[in-house]
Amino acid sequence: MKPLIFSLLKKCTKKIVLSSKMKLRHNITERTIFYGSVWIEDRTIVAVGTDEELFKQFQPRIAEAETVDATGKTVTPGLVDPHTHLVYAGSRENEFAMRLNGATYMEIMNAGGGIHATTKTTREATDEELFTASKKRLDQFLLHGVTTVEAKSGYGLTLEHELKQLIVAKKLHETHPVDVVRTFMGAHAVPTEFKDNPDEFVRIVVEKMIPKVSELALAEFNDVFCERGVFTPEQAKVILEAGKAYGLTPKIHADEIEPYGGAELAAEVGAISADHLLCASDEGIQKMAEKGVIAVLLPGTAFFLMTKAANGRKMIDAGVPVALSTDCNPGSSPTVSLPFIMNLGCLHMGMTPEEVITAATINAAHAIRRGHEIGSIEVGKKADITIFNVPNYMQLIYHYGMNHTDTVIKNGRIVVA
Ligand code: NIG
Ligand code: FE
Repeated sequence: MKPLIFSLLKKCTKKIVLSSKMKLRHNITERTIFYGSVWIEDRTIVAVGTDEELFKQFQPRIAEAETVDATGKTVTPGLVDPHTHLVYAGSRENEFAMRLNGATYMEIMNAGGGIHATTKTTREATDEELFTASKKRLDQFLLHGVTTVEAKSGYGLTLEHELKQLIVAKKLHETHPVDVVRTFMGAHAVPTEFKDNPDEFVRIVVEKMIPKVSELALAEFNDVFCERGVFTPEQAKVILEAGKAYGLTPKIHADEIEPYGGAELAAEVGAISADHLLCASDEGIQKMAEKGVIAVLLPGTAFFLMTKAANGRKMIDAGVPVALSTDCNPGSSPTVSLPFIMNLGCLHMGMTPEEVITAATINAAHAIRRGHEIGSIEVGKKADITIFNVPNYMQLIYHYGMNHTDTVIKNGRIVVA
């Protein structure tokens, strides 16, 4: 494969945002290179620097390289979305109409809609229908500059249907340019058939589903919707500990609707991330900081449910590493636009533009245990790079509801041009 290089020969205003060497820290060592270049060989970033530096270093080989001209544009790491419910069938615009008339998300779910409605359509869909519907969303993620997504099961709620979702996610990973990292979320809701005996459903998740998912190596993470009326912190703990025993790293949907001890539980079980956190207690936030639990914040969900977003500023100031995500799902956040979420991170959560870029790249990569290979433009990392057609990164965040994605390089190949 030919080496790939950005704009090596033209001096211009292209920029490379490097949010690298961040590890799990929020305090930005963000570096922007003006007139920058990246040299890629096969799937890997081989050199990063100014045009001048790379011109000197690679002069004898420039003729053999394929050049991507990023003149006047902004180059960032491929965006990473660490929390999606990508694989589902059906749509819930009817609930959107109900919410506009005053119904709440939980009221709709408790009346058999919400997650239960999508569970029904997802169970009924054929494997092919599920794949096609999910692929359409993944295509859209890519067109918005996203090169890796996490995808949860949780609309099957039986062993058979949870496996079906995870197998579709696996096939998408194998066939689509976007990498798909899988999370088992059998405990997304108590299915209606177990509504009078939720502990029996917890037992099935623990004794039947988790062992099978682990045996088939269909997921790396194990997530639970810990919320009043869904799973209690006690039940969530049982499920997350059971996953750990089978090699699944805990994640948790925590404190979305009310303070419920989810952030505290995340710290206690050593979760890699706690997600949502709109109502997380100060004590929970402190415990997350102490244990290095990443806060995956989803301001699009608050926007769409017309509630107040999580306090990202407070979490960052408390020393919690913050990542951002779309929470792409049919009920509380039907979007793939991570750039819009970044805009909300600034407007609704008190984060700086540099912090939201960090949160949607390197910190997001760490939230799915990929910080060593993606999330920054660094020598040795995978060549996952997005070029936005804006002259500086501020404009990427400042415009909202616009898609500035121009070119996407995934694994060293141009996949959007
Ligand atoms: O993260 N909160 C629970 N789960 C999803 C919503 C799923 C749905 O409504 O279909 C979320 O917001
Ligand atoms: Fe979610």
